[in-house]
Amino acid sequence: MTYPYGPLPELYPEQEALFADAATTYACYRPGLPDAAVRLLADVLRGRPSPVLLDLGTGTGQVPFALLSAGVALTHIEAVDVSRQMLHQASQALHPLLGDCTLTLAHAAADAYEPLATLPGEPDSGPDLITCCRSYHWMNGQAVLEMADRVATPGAAVVIMGDGSLWTHDADWTRALRELIQRYLGAERRAGARRSYAEPRRSYEEDLAASAFNDITEHLFPVTRSWAPQEVLGYLRTTSFAAPELFAERHQAFEDEALALLHAHAVDGSLVEEATFRVLLARRPKRAR
Ligand SMILES: C[S@@+](CC[C@H](N)C(=O)[O-])C[C@H]1O[C@@H](n2cnc3c(N)ncnc32)[C@H](O)[C@@H]1O
Repeated sequence: MTYPYGPLPELYPEQEALFADAATTYACYRPGLPDAAVRLLADVLRGRPSPVLLDLGTGTGQVPFALLSAGVALTHIEAVDVSRQMLHQASQALHPLLGDCTLTLAHAAADAYEPLATLPGEPDSGPDLITCCRSYHWMNGQAVLEMADRVATPGAAVVIMGDGSLWTHDADWTRALRELIQRYLGAERRAGARRSYAEPRRSYEEDLAASAFNDITEHLFPVTRSWAPQEVLGYLRTTSFAAPELFAERHQAFEDEALALLHAHAVDGSLVEEATFRVLLARRPKRAR
């Protein structure tokens, strides 16, 4: 099922364009969720009679894909994204895993989104788990958290999670790569063709603390990833800070230089990233549920 039949007026065309070109490569080059984080999300849903997931900024469906792959018996998934191309990829990835689980793909900005779909015969059903994975920073957090409070079931959890990027990662090879990108695009970190990246004004914890979901726990999961140089190039093409269109006709030259740099730093053909996948798990305080 796809909602709505036309784009919502609140869609941000700039954000949609930013992710449109990345959609096909995204599924290949973006890392999934660490198993330990998936287990944590599965625990949140344990004991729920008919677990419903609302995934905001779903991209190619990494969160529902991980949960379904881990055997979590979801009843319904509502997957929201501003990019039709991302939703198309998500649909392709998720359909083989759905079984009896229903899926609504919502082409909408999460901050302006009001879930319309209710489960047949269960008009009061709402999400038990609302997730933003590597996507919250693109959204109006306050609007998202207010919407979450309107729609979530009483014991629901909101999860904001992610693991930084190769721009923020601190290793010799990522530093050298960042400097190369800066040589082509300027010192400021780009966030698509028209903007520079702006640090959020408040931390995610501060946003959550000011919301109805102010019972917050932090979970940190160390992850070690090995990248082949070509995989790093594939990953960079999916990012807002090194997407091909930012380089225009110099993209090939950039990739040639980046590949040489990555080969020079690789050990046995691999570049190692020691990342931390961070999960903020937030609930309404007990007395408010
Ligand atoms: C970095 S990707 C993360 C995708 C996926 N959740 C993951 O874990 O890899 C960010 C996604 O958020 C979407 N997005 C950006 N702004 C959004 C907004 N305001 N509302 C909904 N989705 C948005 C983008 O289209 C993109 O698919």
